[in-house]
Amino acid sequence: MSDNIASLEKLESSGEHELSVITSQQELDAWRVRYLGRRGLLSEAMRGLGKLPAEERPLVGSVANRIKGRLSSKLEEKQAALRQRDLQLRLEETRIDITLQPPSLIRGQTHVVHQTMRQIIDAFIPLGFQVAEGPEVELDYYNFEALNIPKDHPARDMWDTFWVDDPRRPGEVLLRTHTSPVQIRVMEHSKPPIRVLVPGMCYRYEAVDATHESVFYQVEGLAVDRGITMAELKGTLVSFTHSVFGPERKTRFRCDYFPFVEPGVELAIDCHGCGGSGCRLCKQTGWIEILGAGMVHPNVLEAVGYDPEIYTGFAFGMGPERIAMLKHGIDDIRLFKSNDLRFLRQFAPEVR
Ligand code: FA5
Repeated sequence: MSDNIASLEKLESSGEHELSVITSQQELDAWRVRYLGRRGLLSEAMRGLGKLPAEERPLVGSVANRIKGRLSSKLEEKQAALRQRDLQLRLEETRIDITLQPPSLIRGQTHVVHQTMRQIIDAFIPLGFQVAEGPEVELDYYNFEALNIPKDHPARDMWDTFWVDDPRRPGEVLLRTHTSPVQIRVMEHSKPPIRVLVPGMCYRYEAVDATHESVFYQVEGLAVDRGITMAELKGTLVSFTHSVFGPERKTRFRCDYFPFVEPGVELAIDCHGCGGSGCRLCKQTGWIEILGAGMVHPNVLEAVGYDPEIYTGFAFGMGPERIAMLKHGIDDIRLFKSNDLRFLRQFAPEVR
């Protein structure tokens, strides 16, 4: 009997020893099969119990069960230890070193042209204007026709146009040359009183130089109601001028021509570079033109079904790039899109 128990105990100690030096999951699996598997050493020893005399079986059987229990719990311990070690290794590999210096962050800012557009919009919002938008790919009808610029009208030369190939509407689709078509779209969908401001991208097929881009912004304004006169136009635009260029600026309205207004005017301010005495900024004239405007032409009101005997209105359009150039003394419009951060960083946005 003691032989049987001794060989079981030998099995136990060799099992424990082999287990203690195992370092991988594969080795552990092999160990489990070897010692605790159905055909393993312990099962084999237990099968031999049947051949023992009946009086020896209980004792040898209980020793065998104890050893099986012990090896099984040692196996579980080892399994847990290996898992813990693997987890630790993975954590080590993916560890983030929070003491490392992060790459320095480049702080962005609003582009100076967008800052200017924001200032323009802010000047009109207190006067009751709302912001509206319209499509950049436009129909000839809205860009020209409904704005009192018929097909054969010489004023079309003022807006050199990018045409869009659309087989369904040949010769009718274009990239808008100004934001004025949104006047028509707004009036078609609403009733007076109207006070809208339309910021947006425009496109002209013209040579790029220090004051002209082929892709640029405009901000349009439109007010229509009963009894609107030139006085409202002037009051609104003087208020805008003072808000954007300072309350000390003088304004000058002179006649200008746009087919969709009558009368048409051009607004200039006294040069803030020289105070009106003449300098490079104002080309020695003392005045700087900032926008075109006028009273909405009766033909335009009729085109959207408004009775010009009842309703009148004014409209204006300006280029925010030009306003930004004047405000900051920038002499080349191409700098805005040059992607030169040294240039752009000079114009830190005002904290609002
Ligand atoms: C117009 O486009 C009229 N639709 C403005 C208007 C609206 C007048 C309502 C009356 C009533 P003009 O072509 O002058 O007008 O353009 C207006 C402004 O857009 C210019 O003063 C200029 O600042 C800007 N602009 C025009 N063409 C360019 C260009 N190629 N590059 C940059 N800015 C431009």
